[in-house]
Amino acid sequence: MKKVLAGLAAAMALITPTLSQAEKLVIACGSVGMEKDLCTQGAQAWAKKTGHTVEIMSAPTDTSQELAQLQQLMAAGSTDLDVARIDIVWPGILANHFLDLKPYISEDVLKQHFPSIVQNNMVKGKLVAMPWFTDAGVLYYRKDLLEKHGQKPPTTWQELAQSAKVVLEAEKKAGNDKLVGLVFQGKSYEGLTCTAVEWLDSFGGGTIVDPQGKVTLNNPKAVEAVDFFASLVGTVVPRGVLSYEEEGARGAFQSGSAVFMRNWPYAWALANSKDSMVKGKVGVIALPKGGPDGKSTGTLGGWQLGVPKYSKNKELAVDLVKYLTSVEEQKRRAVVGSFNPTITSLYQDKELLAANPFFGSLYDTFINAVPRPTITGAKYNQVSTEFRNAVYATLSGNGKAADNLAKADAKLKALSKGGKW
Ligand code: GLC
Repeated sequence: MKKVLAGLAAAMALITPTLSQAEKLVIACGSVGMEKDLCTQGAQAWAKKTGHTVEIMSAPTDTSQELAQLQQLMAAGSTDLDVARIDIVWPGILANHFLDLKPYISEDVLKQHFPSIVQNNMVKGKLVAMPWFTDAGVLYYRKDLLEKHGQKPPTTWQELAQSAKVVLEAEKKAGNDKLVGLVFQGKSYEGLTCTAVEWLDSFGGGTIVDPQGKVTLNNPKAVEAVDFFASLVGTVVPRGVLSYEEEGARGAFQSGSAVFMRNWPYAWALANSKDSMVKGKVGVIALPKGGPDGKSTGTLGGWQLGVPKYSKNKELAVDLVKYLTSVEEQKRRAVVGSFNPTITSLYQDKELLAANPFFGSLYDTFINAVPRPTITGAKYNQVSTEFRNAVYATLSGNGKAADNLAKADAKLKALSKGGKW
């Protein structure tokens, strides 16, 4: 009898492997633009394929808040999250809480991705996360308005300000007094750090901390850059920008109220969607140079997927990460939502380039995007916060860049342990 029962149990186990092992995983999905829908669809497709279920944890739209939330979960050793989104500037901050993915991912798969991003995700020999999509700041402009008022797409920030003034004045005369010149991410959060790193780099003012770890923030070019943008607030740049995240800027631009916008590539698919007021009227180019001797540059952004080491379903979570970062999934997200793949071969894909022509024309901008100073490792977030507070104060009219950047520079030097971080 015992034998029969044991045999029966063994047979049952064979017949119902997926049923008895169906697990529920929790993945964090972003909330900016189409991110949540695309992430949910990808996760659901994996769930259908594997017989497991996936629950979505919505991340805040503000990346700085998202980091704080994730750090809290990780510090508590929470088992509530199986797959986490990791910003390109976070591996150095979060590495200790994540599984090393190296043993699970073949060399061939790793080789498909931009080597610099894979490198970025390695901390002390550990692969903290798999690249999911990359990002770089770009300039969106209204083709129709520039043409109508005899303006060319700008190559310098000064030209941009000049063109914006011409368009705004002419449109105002014609009764369109709602139009503004330039919108960007001006709220005091990580998005402003990205925006202002572009300003500094485009004027030749460095990137806060140099690649060797030396604090370089307080220099005349950086001061000039920040003062230049502060001088536009209230004229070319509306004051409201000081509370804009990505979606605030996109909302203004997509409703037809702005001539220029600094944003990430995701805004392209939405600006050209069915119900967009500016569908078909939008151009995308590299961000302008900070003057004739400046440089055209976009800040490197982008997201990775990792598995917290507290997950109770590590192997399955890795499988979900592999699925979501695969060629097929990255292609789908690029075609539908203009999220830049991290898989190099996809930049030759005809369907993808037809949906996003600027993935081809701005390829150099993407591969040469300027990194934020992650040499600062676990202290990156403090560095970013000091920097953007100084920029935000200047934009808001609280002091000049020379003083504000000098104070932030001194604090960073105190944090930096002589550049050793
Ligand atoms: C985008 C970028 C990310 C950056 C964030 C700032 O999501 O991909 O790297 O930190 O914007 O708002």
